[in-house]
Amino acid sequence: MPLPFSNKYTQGDLQKLKALLAPQFAEAFPLPRKQLRVLNIACGRADETGILIENLLAHTELLEITGVDIRNREIGEAKQRWAKHPKANCQFFTQNASQLDHVRELDGPYDLILMRHQNFWNGAETWVKIYDAALHRLSESGILTITSYFDDEHRQAMQAITSLGGKLQHTLRNPKARPIADAPNKSVDRHIAIFRRTPISPDIIV
Ligand SMILES: C[S@@+](CC[C@H](N)C(=O)[O-])C[C@H]1O[C@@H](n2cnc3c(N)ncnc32)[C@H](O)[C@@H]1O
Repeated sequence: MPLPFSNKYTQGDLQKLKALLAPQFAEAFPLPRKQLRVLNIACGRADETGILIENLLAHTELLEITGVDIRNREIGEAKQRWAKHPKANCQFFTQNASQLDHVRELDGPYDLILMRHQNFWNGAETWVKIYDAALHRLSESGILTITSYFDDEHRQAMQAITSLGGKLQHTLRNPKARPIADAPNKSVDRHIAIFRRTPISPDIIV
């Protein structure tokens, strides 16, 4: 049993995210696989690791999840909660995601790259580097998934990713997103967008 979450809303938020992501993963990974590799960029405490495992194990025999964040304390908590998960191989690194090139183990390719609550507004230049690094680490049929707290940041992030060559597949408004009490106009996983490196074509689905 993983360590409980300290925020009473976390479990509910994660169940809503799980429901939104399940059909996206079903579309992206239509055939069962031997192995699926996930990179969770700027994962913080990586609270969503459990719902990723629950959703993705329907599509693969072996699941590897790697989380990176610049904050050591959050990575410590992620390791404590998830590193010994019995059903997936989870590892976490304290790492500046705008410098992923410095770490050979993070070369990819990855079938799913997630950036939950990406932070474009907090430093566009850094985040453009992070989006670019993510797109370059996607497998040919892989998907890049972002979520955003607020409308404008989501729009700007989508613009940045598409201008780097990402092909937008879907953008969804989370109808049940929980408003954040002390942050007007922000809510948890308010928007989700899915990108591919190349436009989808039937022969690249493996
Ligand atoms: C809004 S938080 C989201 C955290 C987590 N994904 C979530 O949804 O709970 C943004 C995260 O980006 C991380 N971050 C910011 N700049 C980063 C960088 N250059 N490299 C890696 N992580 C970074 C922060 O430490 C923080 O954990």
